[in-house]
Amino acid sequence: MVGEFGRTPVLVFGGPYSNLRALQALRAKAAALGVPPPRVICTGDVVAYCAEPEETIAAIRDWGCHVVAGNCEQQLALGADDCGCGFAQGSACDSLSKGWYAFAVARISAASRAWMAQLPNSLWLTYRGLSLRVVHGGIDRINRFLFSSQRSLIATELARARADVVIAGHAGLPFIRPHRDQVWFNPGVIGMPANDGTPDVWYGLIRCTGDGLGFLTQRLSYDHHGAASAMRKHGYADAYADALISGCWPSIDVLPAHERASTGEGLKEQELIVPSPRLSSTRTWRAVAAV
Ligand SMILES: [Fe+2]
Repeated sequence: MVGEFGRTPVLVFGGPYSNLRALQALRAKAAALGVPPPRVICTGDVVAYCAEPEETIAAIRDWGCHVVAGNCEQQLALGADDCGCGFAQGSACDSLSKGWYAFAVARISAASRAWMAQLPNSLWLTYRGLSLRVVHGGIDRINRFLFSSQRSLIATELARARADVVIAGHAGLPFIRPHRDQVWFNPGVIGMPANDGTPDVWYGLIRCTGDGLGFLTQRLSYDHHGAASAMRKHGYADAYADALISGCWPSIDVLPAHERASTGEGLKEQELIVPSPRLSSTRTWRAVAAV
């Protein structure tokens, strides 16, 4: 249990993916927004595709934010043979993951593995009377991919969540999906673009509104050319280096049909207002116009 968050905004984000420059940009954004480290939560996968795994771990530990274990942390801490993303054997994602995973394994210290091993699988908090649960993938399966179009899967996961709102990562695309009186909120990842044809990455904000909380998805620009150049120096995952520039993933194996069809379409920032049971008699979600 993280605790009661009062009225200060909360910043949530996923997948730094060894992208040190993106993490530094997000930390600067948090400072500009006045969000202190105890109100910042990472949904895991600190280490993955990009060029600076050990440096990114050091930077996130120095920041002092909360971190939930991702499948990458679990696998690296265990000394496992692969990233545990659950990619189909022989798929393009499976093949590409072999390059970056071996690169990361060779660069992570014993101290960083020990830090990864002690990360929690879930965080719980209450904010304006709403219960929020933070996980990496699914409720019970850390590497479950859940995308916005998968309404029935999301409903099934929410039924087991024991929380008003679930904040999750792993999938790599930002979305806010209400179901009855619960919400699944994926703020996206900062280590890789959102397959929308722009190099921007994504994070989320949770802020107080008149009668509840607003959940927002937000774009973040950063030095993506520098991040791609750092990867190309080593040549272990050039397809992902290209993705940092183009904004489109090198493989869309994991995406459902709707998200596949949206490849290259610029995403819009969104906000959903969730009324607090303490402050409002209605439990009707209000989607704020996308901007
Ligand atoms: Fe993951």
